[in-house]
Amino acid sequence: MHKNLLEFHKHIEDLSASDVVMQMDNYIQHGDITTLEHVIAVSYTAFILAKRWNADVRTTVRAAMLHDLYLYDWHIKDPATRPPLTHGFTHPAKAAENAAKYFEPSAKELKIIRSHMWPLTLFHCPTSKEALIVTLADKYCAMNETLGIYDDSAYRKKIKTYLVFIKKARAKRNKNSR
Ligand SMILES: [Fe+2]
Ligand SMILES: [Fe+2]
Repeated sequence: MHKNLLEFHKHIEDLSASDVVMQMDNYIQHGDITTLEHVIAVSYTAFILAKRWNADVRTTVRAAMLHDLYLYDWHIKDPATRPPLTHGFTHPAKAAENAAKYFEPSAKELKIIRSHMWPLTLFHCPTSKEALIVTLADKYCAMNETLGIYDDSAYRKKIKTYLVFIKKARAKRNKNSR
């Protein structure tokens, strides 16, 4: 695997191995991209920016991996869950709630998750360089995914490579534990 991807992986090894994080692969985010693929793309983009802008790389990357951990299909109009119209406003709180339930995020990481939809979530604005990076990376990736403009790029291939890598590691672990 590319050395950048290996360095990226070191920060999120435990998250990538988690069943809860893997659940995001069951839901579509934009186009044909699953939420898991989306958070990997955002996290990797944030990783590159955090390194370039001398931010706390680990905090940035971990918060980005958990930023959309809301765990439901936002396209389904089910009043019992979250109708699509309010999803944009409400899912950061749900993602932060799940992150705190299943992992041990720092207060700063939780704040990053909470503010990633800003300016939509008016009162939860980015308050750190790391939060600003995650909200920018999220918007950049969401636009790319919706418009499908990086489908054949080397960048998209990197995200796919990482996804295949964590799925293979998972299959190997499951085999060994049998
Ligand atoms: Fe989001
Ligand atoms: Fe997102």
